Amino acid sequence: MGAAEARLFVAEGAAVVIGDVLVEEGQSLALKLGSAARFTPLDVSSEGSWKAFFEGVDAAFGRLDGLVNNAGILTPGNLADLTVEQITRAFEINQLGPMLGMKHALPLMRRSGGGSIVNLSSSVAVRPFAGIGAYAATKWAIRGLTRVAALEFVGDNIRVNAVLPGYIRTPMTEAFGEDMHEVGVSLTPTKRAGTPHEVAQLVRFLLSEESAYISGADYAIDGASTA
Ligand SMILES: NC(=O)c1ccc[n+]([C@@H]2O[C@H](COP(=O)([O-])OP(=O)(O)OC[C@H]3O[C@@H](n4cnc5c(N)ncnc54)[C@H](O)[C@@H]3O)[C@@H](O)[C@H]2O)c1
Repeated sequence: MGAAEARLFVAEGAAVVIGDVLVEEGQSLALKLGSAARFTPLDVSSEGSWKAFFEGVDAAFGRLDGLVNNAGILTPGNLADLTVEQITRAFEINQLGPMLGMKHALPLMRRSGGGSIVNLSSSVAVRPFAGIGAYAATKWAIRGLTRVAALEFVGDNIRVNAVLPGYIRTPMTEAFGEDMHEVGVSLTPTKRAGTPHEVAQLVRFLLSEESAYISGADYAIDGASTA
């Protein structure tokens, strides 16, 4: 999804800094997107990594208008089986990551006169299912965190919203094979997977001035899964 977002935003004239732990993939995507895109290695679970990331953004552009907290991992497993390591890792990437991202984006975004932040939650944060406790806990937390941030940042002209995708076909879901695909489609009333581009279009809207009066909200994009 992050790649689809970067592609769409560059096509619409934005300058984009892509951050990921996948250095080769990130660099190659930035190269393909041309001079408006650059890649900076980022581990969202590390405060030092976020600081260095935004120092780089500041040095290159001197401003920050949007942040998409997209990085995430899916940690399946029943509560009876999940290890503390699995639960902690899900927390560090899916929950602590966006928290640190927002914290360290704030000074530069404030200096830029405002901006918009989008946090990727999930439809499981409205309608969960068994076997997804570690992941669902972080995605529910993101909804709450988004609302708190929207209230805390309102005086800085910074909007914060959550996007809750349903089943989207990406490397995250493809890693679980065709069985996962069949389950994903069967749980989706529209009987198809969403595409990363469809999510990117919603994120683009929430980052743009078109959504100027929208903050602290949840946006489902899930083929009626949570209807
Ligand atoms: N695919 C779906 O069906 C679905 C549904 C609901 C929500 N989501 C959420 O949407 C977001 C994007 O998901 P996706 O399907 O594109 O997943 P993906 O696995 O395809 O991409 C996630 C990216 O996060 C990166 N990442 C992982 N750990 C990181 C870290 N510590 N620091 C920096 N980057 C890291 C990965 O390298 C990867 O590039 C995630 O937050 C995910 O939980 C996905």
